Amino acid sequence: QPVPVLTIDGPSGAGKGTVSRIVAGRLGWHYLDSGALYRAVGVAASWADLDLADPSALVRCTFDTAIEFRDGSEGLRVLVNGTDATSELRLETTGAVASAIAAIPEVREALKERQRAFRRPPGLVADGRDMGTVIFPDATAKVFLTASAEERARRRHNQLKEKGVSVTFDGLLREILARDARDAQRTVAPLKPAEDAVLIDTTGLGIDEVVERVLALVPKHA
Ligand code: C5P
Repeated sequence: QPVPVLTIDGPSGAGKGTVSRIVAGRLGWHYLDSGALYRAVGVAASWADLDLADPSALVRCTFDTAIEFRDGSEGLRVLVNGTDATSELRLETTGAVASAIAAIPEVREALKERQRAFRRPPGLVADGRDMGTVIFPDATAKVFLTASAEERARRRHNQLKEKGVSVTFDGLLREILARDARDAQRTVAPLKPAEDAVLIDTTGLGIDEVVERVLALVPKHA
């Protein structure tokens, strides 16, 4: 029997990361943050000062970059070519670079097998944009999480305020809308729900409520 996979796709800020981590913990399954792979390549490309308009250099960079996830006392750490890049990975600027790199078909192809390698017993929760459509089309259960752009900007705004980063709500909302448009309009693996995905709109819902709804979709002895 194949190893069970639960895919959680959706736009940035819909709560995928938080929900996926909690659900993976509750199920005792592995967790794949596929966005972190694109972000890690983005960080490596920035370190190497690569031109974002040079796809072949970016593709080479994707093949050459060592990406390692480590469970530490302060949560998951991400090592890029052996160097801890966890904080750099979360920056808005890194997200923007990742989103540009993610539009290159050969980059997506190069990351395919790396993502599928996370599918190990007893199961996997995979979070991203194309987990249910491209990477794990045979997933056991598929979720597409959404929230209004305003709600996503509000959540991000609060997160950044807590961290003491000052940004305007309007600026964030504009960035979110631009990234959504880019992710939805690209020709390879555009952001769209798998036909067999269950849509959950998290606008106005608490994390616990979303977690319970997602867990209810996983067969008991998958
Ligand atoms: O989810 P996260 O914001 O970390 O992803 C960063 C960027 O990587 C996204 O904007 C998207 O362009 C890209 N991405 C992707 N496919 C995935 C995960 C992320 O194209 N499965």
